[in-house]
Amino acid sequence: MEQLVKKISLILLGLFATSVYAGDCDINLEATTAMAFTTNEIIIKKSCEEVTINLKVNGTLSRTVMGHNVVFTKKADMDAVVKDGIAAGLNNNYVKAKDKRVVVATQVIGGGESTSVKFKPIAFNTNEPYVFFCSFPGHSSIMKGNVKFN
Ligand code: CO
Repeated sequence: MEQLVKKISLILLGLFATSVYAGDCDINLEATTAMAFTTNEIIIKKSCEEVTINLKVNGTLSRTVMGHNVVFTKKADMDAVVKDGIAAGLNNNYVKAKDKRVVVATQVIGGGESTSVKFKPIAFNTNEPYVFFCSFPGHSSIMKGNVKFN
């Protein structure tokens, strides 16, 4: 009997751990009215089958004047992706079409709006440094951070 209780407790603990763990696969990121992200580091759990990035933009300015997105690339690719993104324009969410250097990117949104994008952590080569940034023209020098894996 005691062993059975122990067993059931372990099963319940396991269920609890799973539900907590599922929450860790959501990453919530905000763009402030000071043109900054609320964090300069994003941690991606390799154990998540799928991760959801939720981007929320504060303020009231439209996406045409003060739009924000979040783009993930290798650190080494960031500058070139930003440059090509500016050339691609807002209609392409400031990301070059079918850019293979971009692991994942959200659309560009304005103040008061939210967007989400899902990706699989397996899309990252975790031996290399990755960054996230906003590719809206002029933003990536401030709106950027490092991606870490655990
Ligand atoms: Co921005």
